[in-house]
Amino acid sequence: MTDPLLERVCEQRVIPVVVVDDLATAAPLGRALASAGARVVEVTLRSPASERSLAVLAERGDLLVGAGTVVRAEQVDAATRAGAQFVVSPGLSARVVERCRDLGVSIVPGVATASEVMAALALDLSLLKLFPAEACGGVALVRALGGPFPGVRLIPTGGIDADNAGDYLRLASVAAIGGSWMVAPALLAAGDYDAITRLTAAALELAAG
Ligand code: 3PG
Repeated sequence: MTDPLLERVCEQRVIPVVVVDDLATAAPLGRALASAGARVVEVTLRSPASERSLAVLAERGDLLVGAGTVVRAEQVDAATRAGAQFVVSPGLSARVVERCRDLGVSIVPGVATASEVMAALALDLSLLKLFPAEACGGVALVRALGGPFPGVRLIPTGGIDADNAGDYLRLASVAAIGGSWMVAPALLAAGDYDAITRLTAAALELAAG
């Protein structure tokens, strides 16, 4: 079963994952991402400023904004209130999935093993975040999971950067990849929006090529 909104998310192929610690950086971050050509961003709900930052990015109207690091059902409510159009979780929680379904918001749960893929399939979910991608087996794991689960599409995230992104993007079962390297916390803290634009544009170019 395909979800049109998640298909749009995957069209970008590379999803910047951002941790916004300072609300004041959210607006210039949105401008930097948009000027790089990004149309999709995942804002992790792991800082006090994250919900309001997500709202600032969502209010632009030209970015499809997802909420990341959603580990509890209540966070789904907060994310959708802030304007999140999809939810990403590092793991698979039936309660989070259920709350997303109640609220009509798309969900990409995280998996790291075959058993977790099977649990996700049992919930009718086949577009899954592979997390933490590099630590749990990387490209070799993506290939290995493709054998028993030909219908599963993965969004590997965790430990991916400009050097190994291409290795994942070449694999047929990889719908997209995610990562924080384009909006590294140090760049955001330093206000280096030019570097954010440059790294994001380079990643999008790699993905398109
Ligand atoms: C996430 O929440 O998806 C990860 O923290 C992103 O992983 P990365 O920082 O290694 O890219």
